[in-house]
Amino acid sequence: AISRVVAREIIDSRGNPTVEVDVELRDGSLGRAAVPSGASTGAREAVELRDGDPARYHGKGVRRAVDAVNEAVADAVVGLDAEDQATVDHTMIELDGTATKSRLGANALLGVSLATAKAAAAAHRLPLYRYVGGVDARLLPVPMMNIVNGGAHADNPLDFQEFMIAPVGAATFAEAVRMGSEVFHTLRESLLAAGHSVNVGDEGGFAPDLRTADEALDFVVRAIEESGYKPGTDITLVMDPATSEFFHDGVYDYAGEGVRRSPAEHADYLATLVDRYPVASIEDAMAEDDHDGWRDLTARLGDRCQLTGDDVFCTNETLLRAGIRDGIANSVLVKVNQIGTLTETLATVSTAHRAGYTVVMSHRSGETEDTTIADLAVATGCGQIKTGSLSRADRTAKYNQLVRIEQELGTQARYAGRTALGLRS
Ligand code: PGA
Ligand code: ZN
Repeated sequence: AISRVVAREIIDSRGNPTVEVDVELRDGSLGRAAVPSGASTGAREAVELRDGDPARYHGKGVRRAVDAVNEAVADAVVGLDAEDQATVDHTMIELDGTATKSRLGANALLGVSLATAKAAAAAHRLPLYRYVGGVDARLLPVPMMNIVNGGAHADNPLDFQEFMIAPVGAATFAEAVRMGSEVFHTLRESLLAAGHSVNVGDEGGFAPDLRTADEALDFVVRAIEESGYKPGTDITLVMDPATSEFFHDGVYDYAGEGVRRSPAEHADYLATLVDRYPVASIEDAMAEDDHDGWRDLTARLGDRCQLTGDDVFCTNETLLRAGIRDGIANSVLVKVNQIGTLTETLATVSTAHRAGYTVVMSHRSGETEDTTIADLAVATGCGQIKTGSLSRADRTAKYNQLVRIEQELGTQARYAGRTALGLRS
């Protein structure tokens, strides 16, 4: 049973405060979890509680969420069985009492939820992926590595937020990391040679002064080839344009490029990118409020491209069900802090899988050294993880944890490969 719950304010990869929670059990087992934070957040995400006190951390302090954990939440969950994750999570949801977790904060609840699972795993002397996923948890995800950053994650003019590589042709996860690292460094050299900056953005990818997606994709494709790999076969391209950020008054406003596109023109543009480049997956191809656009694009591109919903679903099972009913997307991005508890996260994953939607486990642009999502990717067998570039320890920590898991699983381990993205094998 849970004997102690302690929260504190720590800082994340952007130097902003976030919540860390320790959960201790009567037998002495300890679980610790830190909460991530987004920059291009969905409007329907669970609420991240911030103090708004301008005298501390520019208003971004999380003392109220920390206090909520140390007082009300601790009172409610101490004595509960840590193995009964659903009861712990629902106790907190009821205590909060709001639909968006705005009273105690989703950042408060998530820290306790994940730390509880980790404490229970420790009590069983099991790694987290095995405790949550059971004996069949042995599928290592394809990493989607974000090597060019734009949008809200960098101060360059690129309208699209993320350009990623997915080494689907690797034999193992460790090999996928090596392939990604080689392409990352090749890209660095070619950006330098072209006179671009190779400083990195929030997720560790380069943030060169490029204007169009075509320019970025050309650089990435060339880096794949120059590293000795075949684009589309060994390594496919993935994009997250994060379009909710630049959809205003019914128009997709490409400010960096200096072009405004109607939903139909925007869809045409995405279709030409899929025709011209080996793009296997696009996340938030349409904006969270453009339901017609989402439906049209899914009908048009859904059979040849993975279309992943991030802002449009917010890891929320109810929103996902509505999207499945309406023919929106064919894949869901899963971010634990968008919904705020492990139980609800796992429910969203199950609903997606039952509907034939693929699932991508994901970090946030604000991260910490916490590697829980690496274990959750293996636990759910979702086959894909998006956790940034091949630089910045907040990103590489997740890849390194997956390397450890793969080694520990030994001959049992399987690498998800092409089929994880719905590509033909
Ligand atoms: P965020 O962005 O973590 O800044 O919200 C990530 C994404 O849009 O996928
Ligand atoms: Zn996204």
